[in-house]
Amino acid sequence: SVPTLKLANGKEIPQIGLGTWQSQPGEVEKAVSYALKDAGYRHIDCAFAYGNEKEVGDGIKQSGVPREEIFITSKIWGTWHNRVEEQLKITLERLGTDYLDLLLVHWPIAMNPEGNHPFFPMLPTGKRDILYDWELRKTWEQFEAVYEKGLVKAIGVSNCSQLKLEEEILPFAKIKPMVNQLEIHPYNPQHNLVKWLKSQDIVVEAFSPLGSTDAPLLKDDVITEIANKLGVSPAEVLIGWGVGNGIVVLPKSVNPDRISSNFRFAKLDSSDMEKINGLAAAGKQKRLIKPPWSMVKLGFEDWFQVD
Ligand code: A2P
Repeated sequence: SVPTLKLANGKEIPQIGLGTWQSQPGEVEKAVSYALKDAGYRHIDCAFAYGNEKEVGDGIKQSGVPREEIFITSKIWGTWHNRVEEQLKITLERLGTDYLDLLLVHWPIAMNPEGNHPFFPMLPTGKRDILYDWELRKTWEQFEAVYEKGLVKAIGVSNCSQLKLEEEILPFAKIKPMVNQLEIHPYNPQHNLVKWLKSQDIVVEAFSPLGSTDAPLLKDDVITEIANKLGVSPAEVLIGWGVGNGIVVLPKSVNPDRISSNFRFAKLDSSDMEKINGLAAAGKQKRLIKPPWSMVKLGFEDWFQVD
């Protein structure tokens, strides 16, 4: 069975969860239902911005698995930083539940709801899309409020560097973020950030743990060599690396065989862990997911630092 980690408030989080980014409405219902009912998952990672929460909710319902057995995460999108509870209520309605297990700030950046690209600003055309003057502490205060109301059982952030946390959230937080969800896989291991987060009792979650769509990682020589040696798939090695590192992994799939496969993970010895830990340092460092609005900089320079 899948191990759990303890959040700072004592709540347990299963170390493998189903990712739902890029899972299309029409296929995601079945994927979620299969993951819960047939594959044994008890953790689903969602977001308002993925545009499929209604269908994810349908899948949860179809699975017949009792709500209290499932760990459900969602995220507040940039255009809702001044209306956290309002977006949360829409998300709860779509997911068909009256509470979340975890609510995250999707990106540490507030966007103008009336900007040029109000929902998903792939190509910001002007500064007014980004609310440069918005203070993240104001977002976080609303997170603390919905946590205190019991609408969410844990709160955290996503895509936050150490600098962002140290300068814009931690000094003001009454309740510290319990989680930081990041792009983590062997080509972007963020060793220093992960180490620091653990020292702060902030649980690390990995999105795109397999390297996202058409990942070169699944064909990497070191990964496939270890997979062949152990008689498992490359994906099982990648998930095993994350689980072994004490982080939460969120592999996305809509294919039943791969959903089942991703619930298994290789148990790696320290020499294999070390080999994989060294991949990025060996020149393969690559961040696969870039904030789409990166071209406007946004004080994201620290985010692009590689460790
Ligand atoms: P699909 O949904 O068709 O399975 P990540 O979680 O890193 O974002 O990776 C997800 C991508 O990898 C998706 O394109 C997904 O496609 C594919 N994928 C998911 N699980 C596996 C697996 N076990 N082996 C190979 N590819 C996978």
